[in-house]
Amino acid sequence: MPRYPEYIIQEVIDKNDIVDVVSEYVPLKKSGSNYMGLCPFHNEKTPSFSVSSQKGIFHCFGCGEGGTSISFVMKMENLTFTEALKKLADRAGIALPETNYSDSKQEAAIRDKKELYFEINKEAALFYYSMLSSSEGKAAVAYFKERALDGKCAKFYTLGYSPNKRRSLLDYLVEKGYKEDDIFAAGLASKNDSGAYFDRFRGRIMFPIFNINDKVIGFGARRITEDVNPKYLNTSDTLIYNKSKNLYSLNVARRAKKGEVILVEGYMDVISVVKHGIANVVATLGTALTSDQAKLLKRYFNEIIICYDSDEAGLEAKKRAIMILRDADIKASVMTVEGAKDTDEFLKKYGKDRFLTLINKRKSDILYLMDIFGAKYELQINVEDRIRYISDLLPYLAKVKNDVELDVYIEEIAKRAKTGTQAIYAQLGKTRVVKGDLGAKSPDILPYAGAIVSDKLEKTRELLLSVLADNVSILERFSGIISEDLFENKTQKKLFEIIKEKAESHQRIEAGSVMALFDDDEIGEVTKILTIDAMCDDKSKAVSDYVAAIKQEMRKAKIQALLQSGDMQALNEFLKNK
Ligand code: GTP
Ligand code: MN
Repeated sequence: MPRYPEYIIQEVIDKNDIVDVVSEYVPLKKSGSNYMGLCPFHNEKTPSFSVSSQKGIFHCFGCGEGGTSISFVMKMENLTFTEALKKLADRAGIALPETNYSDSKQEAAIRDKKELYFEINKEAALFYYSMLSSSEGKAAVAYFKERALDGKCAKFYTLGYSPNKRRSLLDYLVEKGYKEDDIFAAGLASKNDSGAYFDRFRGRIMFPIFNINDKVIGFGARRITEDVNPKYLNTSDTLIYNKSKNLYSLNVARRAKKGEVILVEGYMDVISVVKHGIANVVATLGTALTSDQAKLLKRYFNEIIICYDSDEAGLEAKKRAIMILRDADIKASVMTVEGAKDTDEFLKKYGKDRFLTLINKRKSDILYLMDIFGAKYELQINVEDRIRYISDLLPYLAKVKNDVELDVYIEEIAKRAKTGTQAIYAQLGKTRVVKGDLGAKSPDILPYAGAIVSDKLEKTRELLLSVLADNVSILERFSGIISEDLFENKTQKKLFEIIKEKAESHQRIEAGSVMALFDDDEIGEVTKILTIDAMCDDKSKAVSDYVAAIKQEMRKAKIQALLQSGDMQALNEFLKNK
């Protein structure tokens, strides 16, 4: 990510006191060595948003958001990293280097290619759009009319028409000076067996797909007559387009400045919703929701309202989306479009007000599933149905990270299924073992794959890392005792490695430059750790206590796992080796 060298980023962070930067948006009060306020990224009544001037970071203990002053400005103003960096550099009067001199030649070449493909796609979108006013485009215009799309919609989304010829776009672009190889690589041409190029999209309605910075990166293309297959033909992945990493209309939705976003199934649904004046809506690009898309949405919104079709396929898609969103730790809810096959049809039939009512009546994800699954069963009279009901819900409950939330659901499920809560907790223990995302890739490095993730263990690890991050030199005294084996998630391991490197080179941890080493989805965890104030006088003693506690908990968990697996020999070996 960083185009700019680390020291520049650190300088921008150092010269902008994060307390001042945040105070421009959020009133803060001093509390101990930190400042506290109401979190601007989620709704709360008591402050859990903490800012540390000394460490240069913020962290919300309520929603888990965190980062440096740069990421704060990115989130508040919906800016990219570079945009936020520039803004803060300006604020502090720092001149940023003009060129991207830190790029290698190869990186520069790739960037040039990307720029070229953006340009080609943009030219293509304008070409397709212009075809709407040609004689060939008449069928498309008639189709738009049939679907109640007017010229304003077509213009807003630059919808268009691809003529039904072998080489209309190709001829147009070649005439403009673009090479056929590049047009092909940009996703707009296909190649036959003898190597001749032809237009990929022919005789279709064209939906340009924009990235968050309003660049055209690809197209969705719909047939206009039912006898053509497939119904939609999309750009296949290119250097600038990846169907599982982008979302249709996110560039529009992010500017709506809403906390929540509606997730619909198709392009036509999005356009229909936006046409009714609701701009915070997106769709996936012909695939089920992916975890990359969930993370992308999390950058701009704090709640995803799933609004899929009301058929059987729609229900399956909702269940999958709930799993993905829970994994990404983003709030999900479901609205039910009744009396119409999809969102577009609903809006046409019943109008905006009824749609807004559906939004207001949305149910949070687990409550929705409790109702949907409940309707399948006879919970009042059938004992086996009650068991099925609970086991249907277990995989979702296993994803609930917040204990209070989990308690509430389990209480309610127990009531509905006429069982005690204990049985559900017990079942869930087992489910967490199987479904936990530990060890999917490398079980061998996990000290106790299969154990139930213990909250206490996690907290102790966080405390340990926070003390070490504040006092990296302590690590020397514990060489051979503290190793990365104490940690099991990748972010904590990585943070530990960084602390170790800093200790070895006798440097301090500097929040800003450290943050640049983590992926977006890791930042919250890192700032959480760095914000924790362990408040211990004797740091060495604290560290050795934490380490002992972690080792003991890990050992207990390992024994439990071995007991559960029934491998008595392995258990025996483990106990023997102390
Ligand atoms: P209409 O049916 O015209 O209302 O369009 P829609 O956008 O509502 O499409 P639909 O509900 O049928 O499908 C939802 C989304 O799935 C579409 O927007 C496409 O992204 C995708 N999709 C549908 N059919 C196909 C197909 O045949 N191939 C591919 N790759 N994607 C498809
Ligand atoms: Mn549809």
